[in-house]
Order: sequence, then C-alpha cells, then structure tokens
Amino acid sequence: MSVQLLVAMSPWARLLSTTARVSLLLLLGSVLFSCSSQRVPEFALTKIEESDIKDDSGKELGTEDDADPEDLEVFYPTDQWQTLRPGQAVPAGSHVRLNLQTGEREAKLPDRENGETGTREQRGRKRLGKVDLDANSFTSEELKKALAKMKESEKAERKAREEEVRKKFRPIEQLKEEFEKLNMKIETDYEIMVKLISKFNSSASTLDEKVAALYDLEYYVHQVDNAKDFLSMGGLQLVIEGLNSSEASLKEHAAFVLGAALSSNPKVQIEAIEGGALQKLLVILATEQPLAVRKKALFALSSMLRHFPYAQQQFLKLGGLQVLRSLFRQKGMEPLHVRVVTLLYDLIMEKMLLEDSQHGEQMEEKIQQYQQVRLVPAVVEQGWCALVPNLLAMPEHDTREKVLKLVGVLVAFCREHYRGDPTLGTTLSLLRSEYEELAAEEQREGDKDGYFRELLGSINTIIQELR
Ligand SMILES: *[C@@H]1O[C@H](CO)[C@@H](O)[C@H](O)[C@H]1NC(C)=O
Ligand SMILES: *[C@@H]1O[C@H](CO)[C@@H](O)[C@H](O)[C@H]1NC(C)=O
Repeated sequence: MSVQLLVAMSPWARLLSTTARVSLLLLLGSVLFSCSSQRVPEFALTKIEESDIKDDSGKELGTEDDADPEDLEVFYPTDQWQTLRPGQAVPAGSHVRLNLQTGEREAKLPDRENGETGTREQRGRKRLGKVDLDANSFTSEELKKALAKMKESEKAERKAREEEVRKKFRPIEQLKEEFEKLNMKIETDYEIMVKLISKFNSSASTLDEKVAALYDLEYYVHQVDNAKDFLSMGGLQLVIEGLNSSEASLKEHAAFVLGAALSSNPKVQIEAIEGGALQKLLVILATEQPLAVRKKALFALSSMLRHFPYAQQQFLKLGGLQVLRSLFRQKGMEPLHVRVVTLLYDLIMEKMLLEDSQHGEQMEEKIQQYQQVRLVPAVVEQGWCALVPNLLAMPEHDTREKVLKLVGVLVAFCREHYRGDPTLGTTLSLLRSEYEELAAEEQREGDKDGYFRELLGSINTIIQELR
C-alpha cells in the first residue's frame, strides 16, 4: 500500500503548490483515518492511475512546457473555472479548488449568486471530489510588486507563505506518525534524491527513465537545503555533465534541474561555475538545438547570473552577450527574446539598485565585484539599443511591458540612437493611443491603478526622456 500511494502521488503531486500538497496530505489523512477504523483496504488515491493523469486533450500534464520561475505570472480569474498552471499566483479572494480527477488546480472569481463571500466559507469545503483550497493571500497589486522584485525577495516571500501554511496545518508531524502506524513509509527528500540520482547515473537505466529521474529531481532541488544536499551527493556535477549529452531530452532536463538548483542559491552557483556549467550552457545556446533545450538552458543561465557578479563577469568575458544576441538572428527562437530582455533588465537593475542602496562594509566587496561587470557599455556597443525597441511590435501586453522596462533603463544610454530612430517615435505614439484607450476603459471599470495605466505611464516617461 505504501508503494502504491507514493507511485500514485508522485507524477502529479509535484504539479501542486506546497499549499495544495499540504492540503492534499491532510485530505489523505482524513480519508485514511476514517477508513482505518473499519480496516478498509481500498484507498481513494490508489485508483488514480497513470492513464487518468491527463487533461482533456489527452496530453500528459506538465511534460511539454514545464513551469520555470521565468514563467511565474499572475492568474486572472473569471467567473468560470480555469486551470491554473504550476507556479501561477492567484489573487486574494479567488476561489481555488483541486480537481481530483485531473490533479489540476482550478480557480475562478467567487460565486456571487450563491451568496459566497469568497473567503472563509470556502475553506475546507468538499464536494464531488473537488477540494477547495485557500487562495494565496495576495492582492494583485502586491503580486505585481513581488514579481518585480529580485529573486531573493521572491524566495523569502515564498518561504514566509509556506511557513504560514505550515502553521495553519499544524498536525503534519502527527500525520506522519499516523502514517507510520499504518505502516506507510514517507521517504525523506534526501532518500528520494539519492534514488533519483542513482537512477539517472545508472547505465542500466533507459533514456526515458533518466529523463523521468531528472524531471522528479527538479522538484526537489528547488528547496535551498535540498539543493545543497544535491551538491554533496555529487548530483550537481552529474547534471552539468548531462548538459553535454548527445540526447536533446537529457540536455533539456539537465538544464532544468540545474536552473532550479541554482535559483537564489549562492553555494550552488559557485560550485556550478567552477564545474564548468557556464561554458556548457553558452555552447547549448550558441549551437543548433531544439527550442525546448535552449529555453531551459536560458533559464539555467539566468539562475546562474542573477545576484552573482562573478558569473556575470565571466559571462561577458566568454562572449555571452553575443550568444544571446545571436538568438535574435535565428528563426524559431522568438519565444526566447522576451526572456533575454527580462534577464538583461534584471541584471542592469540589480547592479543599479545595489549602487543606490545604503550599504555597510560587508557590501563593499560585492559592490567592487559589480563594478567589474561592465554590462551596460557592452550592451550599448553590441547594438542592443537598436534591437530591443523592435520587440515593441509584439502584440502581447506582457511582452511589451518587459520590453518597455528595458527601454526605460536603456534610454539614458541609448538616447542619441533613440532620438534618431523615427520608427521608435511612431511606435511609441501608437502604443500611447492604444494604452490611453485601454487605461480609460480600465478606469471606467473602477480600477484606478490598473495595469494599462502603468504601461501608459512607462510609455509617457520614455517619450518625455526623448524630447
Ligand atoms: C555515477 O556512476 C559512476 C560509475 O558507476 C560512479 O563512479 C559515480 O560515483 C556515480 N556518481 C554518483 C554521483 O552517484
Ligand atoms: C563536453 O563539452 C565540452 C564543451 O562544452 C567539450 O570540450 C567536451 O569535450 C565535452 N565532453 C564530452 C565528454 O563530450
């Protein structure tokens, strides 16, 4: 029974947020406890089989475009149930449920006709195999701010949220004991990672088994402590070597695991750069590779560079900026463009914010390191001034938002170029009209500090700076 439970859970439990996982465990607990007195051998979840874990289109969940932190975005609920993608953040007051049939989380606006207030009443309500979850206690404004911040604060915030959830669902330790009484073994993350690493490293494993091992490892190494264990187990070096694999799917998933382990984890960042990960990632990005592979390589590169000035310096030395530039000349790499823009923006801002901040002595060394990262001059020299505004032609608001941010910081350094670019002037005027209209509509709907208003503000600032 214990094996069955773990097997049944693992493929889709990883798709759920911590909140959902904890709630799910609680649910399992209550199912188990209610069953245990009658010694009913059947267990609800064991019925969920591999074949059930598909969505309507019959596609397996999560295999195609796995969420990485680059994808983190706000979910906009409507009055219909919509599926939440892993990592999407939900505005406060939304109605969230776990669909036990599909293993997916779904969310919508609170149902007004039924007199639901959208908060307390929803908690702990169950019906027809759907479990209501507590929506993350965030307003969309807070979310936007949180998203704009650097990875570190994002991480701290996630931790605080997890802590809150943990407090709310206090009896998890008790639950473990109860599980043990029922002869159910809950493996520690450490034990699971040891198994996964040896599965990945074993010459007896098939390609699919290795990919599956990496796919599961990615889930565990998100946690800072797990990532450190992963390092000491020798797993990090293995995935760095995996970047060299001739199999695209291994390269892709190795980069995915690496990116997750690197995120806001200085110890792993140092080991990875010493282990040669930076060169290997740049090789992947610079050579003919499927989009999926390069996407994950770019994700890993971003995690490597953020808040790590030494890596940024090496990146510039190794011609990393030219490698990113080359992605704009190749067909089919468009989905990477906005990620590159976001990365550049974050790196430029991270240095600026540090230089502006109040700092004590312990920051001096860091500031000195950043001073050697001559990113903006390299960006200007290599023609990014001309390149970046072209992306304003993209139709998605989200893409434009990111491009506008980068143009906004570059305007001080690219001013002459921008002033002499008539296309940019036209584009900005067109965008201004478009967002004036959208912002007015937004305001009529009662949203005073809306998203479009913010975009309009960025556009106006840029136009002003170019006068
Ligand atoms: C991977 O396998 C090789 C050869 O079997 C072994 O020498 C090495 O220690 C293994 N590495 C890890 C991290 O388990
Ligand atoms: C791995 O890739 C590097 C270049 O990034 C290359 O120099 C090295 O020979 C490769 N190693 C293997 C074992 O293929």
